[in-house]
Amino acid sequence: MPADEGSLAHRRHVPSRLITVESLTDHLDLDRIFGRKVPLHVDLGCGDGSFLCALAQRMPDKNFLGIERLLNRVRTSARKAAILDNVLLLRMEGFYAVRYLLPAESVERFYLLFPDPWPKRRHHRRRIVTPDFLGSIHAALEKNGSVYIATDDVDYFRKIKEIAESNPGFAIREADIDLPQSKFGRIFREKGAPVQWLELRRISPVK
Ligand SMILES: C[S@@+](CC[C@H](N)C(=O)[O-])C[C@H]1O[C@@H](n2cnc3c(N)ncnc32)[C@H](O)[C@@H]1O
Repeated sequence: MPADEGSLAHRRHVPSRLITVESLTDHLDLDRIFGRKVPLHVDLGCGDGSFLCALAQRMPDKNFLGIERLLNRVRTSARKAAILDNVLLLRMEGFYAVRYLLPAESVERFYLLFPDPWPKRRHHRRRIVTPDFLGSIHAALEKNGSVYIATDDVDYFRKIKEIAESNPGFAIREADIDLPQSKFGRIFREKGAPVQWLELRRISPVK
């Protein structure tokens, strides 16, 4: 469910970086919401917002949207973003937001860092990366836009790559990418767990 500032404000002070969604079916008017027209980067499952905010500070000429479904995490992210003019937060299920709320060809880059791997076979259907999900990502990406994906889960990585390879709209690159550490990235690094990265770049137009 989307969170709106009005409904949260009476429970606890919430800085005004949370987007109020007026419709669950209309595309977001991004230029109006951010108050300027510059390329948009979207962090899906932004967790505590540390990666999102570090990146937004590094790239003040881009707009950043963090999407996260857990209320406490989106609140933590919103507090971190309170001093950053180029960051907004949306509390929502990520696939829904990409599919229904982001306009076609509106995103320069998505980040999907350490999506929940759901390691048990019977839970695999809960994983966010599916052919439909990557189809919606493709539609929301600008020409030559890309999505960066990181995971420590070997099986999920293999599956994501397989799904990406079956979509002719993407060029795939396994890459080490110079980005700020996310909270989970830091945790895996401290544990010495290997992390695998994929960059999927949109190479064909939206059909
Ligand atoms: C393992 S954590 C990674 C958080 C952050 N990306 C990082 O690297 O520190 C996964 C995050 O994705 C969020 N999440 C999982 N599925 C989601 C979905 N379908 N829509 C939005 N957020 C989701 C979880 O609530 C959690 O905060």
